[in-house]
Amino acid sequence: MRTIIEPFKIKSVEPIHFNTKDERVIILEKAFFNPFLIAADDVMIDLLTDSGTSAMSSDQWAGIMKGDESYAGSSSFFHFEKTVQELTGMPFIIPTHQGRAAEKILFSITGGKGKFFVSNTLFDTTRANIEFSGAEGIDLICEEGKHPAIPAPFKGNMDIAALRECVKEKGAANIPLCIITITNNSGGGQPVSMQNIREVKQICSENNIPLYIDACRFAENAYFIKLRETGYAQKSIPDIVHEIFSYADGCTMSAKKDAFANIGGFLAMHNPALARDCRNLLIITEGFPTYGGLAGRDLEAISIGLHEVMEENYLQYRIRSIEYLTEKLTKAGVPVMVPAGGHAVYLDATAFLPHIPVEQYPGQALVGALYIEGGIRSVEIGSLMFGKYDEHHQLIPAKLELVRLAIPRRVYTQSHIDYVAEVIIDVYKQRKDIKGLKIVEEAPMLRHFTVKLKLAN
Ligand SMILES: Cc1ncc(COP(=O)(O)O)c(C=O)c1O
Repeated sequence: MRTIIEPFKIKSVEPIHFNTKDERVIILEKAFFNPFLIAADDVMIDLLTDSGTSAMSSDQWAGIMKGDESYAGSSSFFHFEKTVQELTGMPFIIPTHQGRAAEKILFSITGGKGKFFVSNTLFDTTRANIEFSGAEGIDLICEEGKHPAIPAPFKGNMDIAALRECVKEKGAANIPLCIITITNNSGGGQPVSMQNIREVKQICSENNIPLYIDACRFAENAYFIKLRETGYAQKSIPDIVHEIFSYADGCTMSAKKDAFANIGGFLAMHNPALARDCRNLLIITEGFPTYGGLAGRDLEAISIGLHEVMEENYLQYRIRSIEYLTEKLTKAGVPVMVPAGGHAVYLDATAFLPHIPVEQYPGQALVGALYIEGGIRSVEIGSLMFGKYDEHHQLIPAKLELVRLAIPRRVYTQSHIDYVAEVIIDVYKQRKDIKGLKIVEEAPMLRHFTVKLKLAN
């Protein structure tokens, strides 16, 4: 069969609230051109994030009912612990309320002034937690990953030569961890190859640097390896996943992505001394080690989701639906990152809006235009999210100006996606009318969540 169908039936539905273009103009102004400040009921298609927005399966909902809410030693924890141990091959499993809580604990212990954390690309919360500890984060993405319009199979790869150079320059003793983000969210949801993970591991081992995986989208990355990397076509997804984790000393995970959970995360590792320190901090910040900021029911939902996400029918539908939207846009000439990533479509705002200078945040301007045109909520991944200021308060731009349309898992159907394509293509036709923005209020860290903007002129 040529048509790839959604591998599920719908049992429970949520209404979409419709509004008009005129209403949306007012809503956006009241939200200071920041999609995070728009009420969800005012959004028609919500592609702000794929995080915590999945539709859970009937098995997961049944697991919610079975959740054991005992404070210590609940059966739900043991189910969760066994699942994550089997998945990662790591013995020490520490539940957290979401991914950034795992990061906060890990970097509070391993970070600090004078330390450097190297990565393909650190996600915004990961970078923020590293910098909050006083350490520095260094992104070493491969050359292909820097060019949205040039296709390559593994644009999330780390630049191996740059990693060697960086270790020499900073000194291995000052690099507590190397972190590979799979897939590379901030770099277009692009996958990392097994070969690259192996090579990074080799350099880490030679220099005694532990390798950690930011594993939010491990199953999507594994499916790309199966599709694109020589020697993996006949391997099962669990086998590929096991190989990925076999190279890692530890991982952080937001279960809000590839575990189909609405909340949750974990830290997993091989090092017993580090695990002990992490658990001690966990007790102060999250909770007792057998629940770590989660209810027993959440631990059940995560355990079940971690199995479901490795089903090939699901992954085939998932990766194909992102590709479907990317293809429609490419055909219409819309500048979009190619090839399609695993969880989102990324518009290249620099090419979409060449008349808006980077100081006027073309990505954020495009986010606003998509909302007004079709009630679609997206997010800027560019200089609003990652830009910094120099000592003269001049913007140091991000490497790429992207707009991410993240597709929640198992939530939208093909006609929703057709509608999204139609809206983006219409906005592209009217792109010359879109105006730049300027900031009126911002926080010192992770400013994109709360920033207030207005039209630049
Ligand atoms: C790659 C990556 N790492 C870490 C996180 C943080 O996870 P959480 O939102 O659960 O704190 C995210 C969330 O989007 C992510 O995409």
